[in-house]
Amino acid sequence: MFSTDLKTPGFRLRPLELRDIEALTNVIFGDPDVAKTLAHDASTAESRRKCAAVWCERHAIDSPQSNWTQRRLGAWALVDEAAGKSAERLIGIRGFNVDKNLPENCVGTFIALAKSHWQRGLASEITRLLLDYVFHETDTKAVYTEIWPLLNPRSEAVQRKMGYELVGRHSVREAHGEDRMRDIAKFELWRASCASESELAPVLREVSVKMGQLAAERLHSQEEAVDLILGQIAVPNQTVDELVQGNVQLGFDNPAWLEFRLNRSDWLHRQQLR
Ligand SMILES: CC(C)(COP(=O)(O)OP(=O)(O)OC[C@H]1O[C@@H](n2cnc3c(N)ncnc32)[C@H](O)[C@@H]1OP(=O)(O)O)[C@@H](O)C(=O)NCCC(=O)NCCS
Repeated sequence: MFSTDLKTPGFRLRPLELRDIEALTNVIFGDPDVAKTLAHDASTAESRRKCAAVWCERHAIDSPQSNWTQRRLGAWALVDEAAGKSAERLIGIRGFNVDKNLPENCVGTFIALAKSHWQRGLASEITRLLLDYVFHETDTKAVYTEIWPLLNPRSEAVQRKMGYELVGRHSVREAHGEDRMRDIAKFELWRASCASESELAPVLREVSVKMGQLAAERLHSQEEAVDLILGQIAVPNQTVDELVQGNVQLGFDNPAWLEFRLNRSDWLHRQQLR
């Protein structure tokens, strides 16, 4: 099954395996800065491990529940082999979801990298390699991806660079249901509760936007969102109050995921131009 060394020396892409649960738990779900733009509750050791186990169960090549045999699709681990092949360290994941809500022969995709490895072009490189694989080696017609509006310009930059086009908005409620929305809200409130003084303003901005987006999808009202967030702050004041209210409103006005699509024909055309 497809695996390859990257052009960036020392890194390799290989299919995800069940043995990667521990690394995913720590590297991806154990860092709030990585987990905050996914859509899970990673607020406790137990929930982090559960998220990692579900990803591996659905997407690992040696998991009986994965789509590897039928569709030749699942997830890949990005590993750092700088210390040698036998001492590889997982530092990221890129995967493809077979989703019955998408048109026939279309898949969704997800990605997450350790923060220590951001901004080095690694996400772009593995995305290119895997899109080549998906469009050349499988019958996939289009790949869809979803991004939290206002909260993830880095991911948006990667998708746009690949040629993804914005095709609309996709409700979180429709995609995952209310229980998952509650998980997301729980994680955001936890983030607000543990933010240090120096990171309080940026964290509160992000938390408030997300809680506003969930309010727009009727998980709670805007007023409840504001109260829930302020309830996490030891000593609220007028500045904090205004920051939270303003950003809950901003999130409310920008609800639901941005949905991007990349068609096989567009990808193949871009390749000819390269
Ligand atoms: C999204 C993610 C995978 C990107 O990884 P990465 O390795 O840093 O990505 P790359 O280095 O390949 O590219 C990042 C691009 O974002 C751009 N960028 C960074 N910060 C930005 C910002 N604030 N606004 C706009 N663009 C930004 C960079 O300039 C770069 O584009 P360029 O190569 O054209 O200069 C990584 O940040 C991550 O794992 N985030 C957490 C999980 C996540 O959000 N997953 C996606 C869910 S939709």
